[in-house]
This record gives sequence, C-alpha cells and structure tokens, in this order.
Amino acid sequence: MNTDLVVVGSGLFGLTVAERAAREMGLKVTMIDRRSHLGGNAYSENEERTGIEVHRYGAHLFHTSNERVWEYVNRFTAFTNYVHRVYTRHKGEVFPMPINLGTINQFFRAAYSPGEARDLIREQAGELAGTDPQNLNDKGIQLIGRPLYEAFIKHYTGKQWQTDPKDLPASIISRLPVRYTYDNRYFNDTHEGLPVDGYTAWLERMADHPNIDVRLDTDFFDDSQEFSKSNVVGQVPVVYTGPVDRYFDYAQGDLSWRTIDLEEEVLDIEDFQGTSVMNYPDEDVPFTRIHEFRHFHPERDYTKDATVIMREFSRFAEKGDEPYYPVNTQADREKLLAYRDLAKEESSVLFGGRLGTYKYLDMHMAIGSALSMVDNKIAPHFTSGAPLS
Ligand code: FAD
Ligand code: NA
Repeated sequence: MNTDLVVVGSGLFGLTVAERAAREMGLKVTMIDRRSHLGGNAYSENEERTGIEVHRYGAHLFHTSNERVWEYVNRFTAFTNYVHRVYTRHKGEVFPMPINLGTINQFFRAAYSPGEARDLIREQAGELAGTDPQNLNDKGIQLIGRPLYEAFIKHYTGKQWQTDPKDLPASIISRLPVRYTYDNRYFNDTHEGLPVDGYTAWLERMADHPNIDVRLDTDFFDDSQEFSKSNVVGQVPVVYTGPVDRYFDYAQGDLSWRTIDLEEEVLDIEDFQGTSVMNYPDEDVPFTRIHEFRHFHPERDYTKDATVIMREFSRFAEKGDEPYYPVNTQADREKLLAYRDLAKEESSVLFGGRLGTYKYLDMHMAIGSALSMVDNKIAPHFTSGAPLS
C-alpha cells in the first residue's frame, strides 16, 4: 500500500493530522471521507442564487484563547473582526443574550445597578434554596430564579432535548451564566473571527499538499474500497475520526446523539432580522433559532435583493441522522468506557475528534487535540518506532 498513514474523516481533526504528517514529517497521507466534500461539519458553500456563504452543518464561529492553535490556523486563512452576539425573541420582544444586565433591566422594566440585580436574582433563586434539585427545571430555578429561567431557558432547553425539563436530569446544566454588566459579547476568548474568504477555502488549503491524497465519497466500512477498514487496519497506521461505536460495529451498543434539522429559505428582502442569530425560547414556536448568514460577513458586498435564513430544529438522532451533540447519559458513559478499552487494543489505530471520542469539541479544541496527537503519538511512532497507541 503506497501510503504511510490513513486518516479517516476530513474534518478539522483529520485535516490537522494530515497536514502536520505531510508537511512536517514528510509522510504520504491518504485521507478519506464518505461525504462528497472535505472539511467535516465546518464545511460551507455559497448559496446558489445569492452567493451568500452558508454553513451547511449549522453556524460555525471560530474563537480560541489557545495561542498555538491561533498561530496554526492563521497559516491557512486570515480572520475577519466579526464578534458574535446573540439575541432572543420572547413574547414579542427582543432581548440580548446571554442573560446580562441589559436583559435583566429590560425584562423587569428597571434600571438596576449590578449590585441590585445580583441581590434580586439571589432572592429569586432562593425559592429553592437548600434543596438538591434532581431535575433540570428545579436546577434552573435554583440557579437564576423562576422568572428569567422560565422566560429564556425552560422551553428553549425543552425544545433542544424534545423533553420537558422536569424530566431531564439536573446534571445537564451545572451553571447558567448571568452577567452583571451590559457586555453581551458571546465568547470570552482572546481571538475571534470568521475566515476572510470562507471556511471551505481555509479547509482546502490545509489539504493542499502533494503528499496528501484526498478521496471523497469513500466510506471506511465499504469493503469494496481500496482504503477500507478490512484492507488497511494492521497494514498501515490509521487515524480514525468517525463514530467510535460504528468502528466496532456497535458491539457495546449505540451511543446516543442529538442532531439538528436546518430549513433554509431565501427571502426577497435585504435583511430579515438585523443580526446573525436570533433565539426563539418560547413554547409556541417549534424551532430553537434562526440564522441569517449575511450578517456573519458585513464586510462583504452581498446582494441587497435577497437574504438567506435557516431555521434550526433540534431532536434525538436516529440511525442514519448526522450525529451532532453527545447526549451523554449514564448508559452512554458506560458504553464509552467499554469502547475505549476496545480502542486501546486496536494497536495500529488512533481514535480522535468529535465522533471518535464521543465528545463535543469546538473547532479550536479539535485542532488542539489533533496537534497533541501528532506530538505525543504519531511523531514518536514514525521517528523512533514508539508504539502507536
Ligand atoms: P467532523 O467535522 O464531524 O468530521 C468528521 C468527518 O468524518 C466527517 O467529514 C465525516 O463525513 C467523516 N466520516 C465519518 N464516518 C466516516 C466513515 N465511515 N468513512 C469516512 N469518513 C467518515 N465549533 C466551533 O468552534 N464553533 C462553532 O460555532 C461550532 N458550531 C457547531 C455547530 C454544530 C451543529 C456542530 C455539530 C458542531 C459545531 N462546532 C463548532 C464543532 C465543529 O464542527 C467541530 O469542532 C468539528 O466538527 C470537529 O471536527 P472533527 O474533525 O472531529 O469532526
Ligand atoms: Na488504538
């Protein structure tokens, strides 16, 4: 087999491994993906009619405080100065998110100082003081008090999980951030922005190296493929970033995931909502939020005749749906431990990324974790023959 390393999955984890292995270590890398494009869930494309860049698998905002990752990604793309902010539409009124002093004063028709607002929320949260909440609903009330919880969190969370928060475990949330300032910047990281010429240009540049052979529409579990599991495992080192339960043919059971459905619509108006993300926390609206993609790139000269919006619906994933967010029940955690043991025994395969580790990873985390895998496992193996895993 004329390759040194097989990378399964071309998301940011696989791309980072492939890029480092090819450019830094001079290895010949074959990277396969079952989709017809590379880039994994960060992939984007320009909507046909309007030319507006649309993130195909849900809105992706890049942010990081990791200097190594920031330096690394800037080799492939420059970033705009976009700063993410989210608003929420509750009972015919629009409030800033995450809950901050502006939200609180608008909601209570008041002009509280930070100290007064803190006292008020403490008093309202006191309703369940001294109790040990078992469900998410009680936990939410105990964290921020009933009025704010019921307006902005309760039904939003219920829609995300398709479950009444009274029937969800309290462990889903450990904290609900409330800011006692007017700062409604969504992320707190040192660096934030969007790739100047789009996600796909960035992702394609990472794979653009003579030692990287990208094979799309290629499923690792399709035995008719040259680089299938049955053909390569044991023959050549593999970095696998697909679902860990799928790798082992679900031998320990299925891990559970949430997925989202995105409904795209092109509207013949310049601007639908005046901002990139509007949450819908009320019970009578079936979707959780609406994205309007033109607002991610105010610096671009987009058409004024039309705009692209996407309504986002959230639900439990069935087999065949895209797995997006780990549900992470107690049963899932037990299965994951069993899969980790199996993964250790696969001595020529490293498992990584969001699906391979059953862990939600932001882009900067996927990249950081891939860089560590290269440093700690892949480089030692190829330079001094250390065992791969
Ligand atoms: P993925 O991007 O999922 O890539 C895995 C790849 O493996 C896929 O291309 C898949 O097709 C391929 N694959 C799977 N099985 C096989 C197989 N059998 N054979 C061949 N190929 C296979 N991060 C942020 O930093 N900011 C955000 O705002 C943000 N928003 C997000 C919104 C959503 C809805 C989701 C799901 C994620 C979001 N992320 C965000 C996270 C970001 O997408 C991840 O960091 C990234 O997906 C991790 O990269 P990965 O390579 O681990 O996985
Ligand atoms: Na292994």
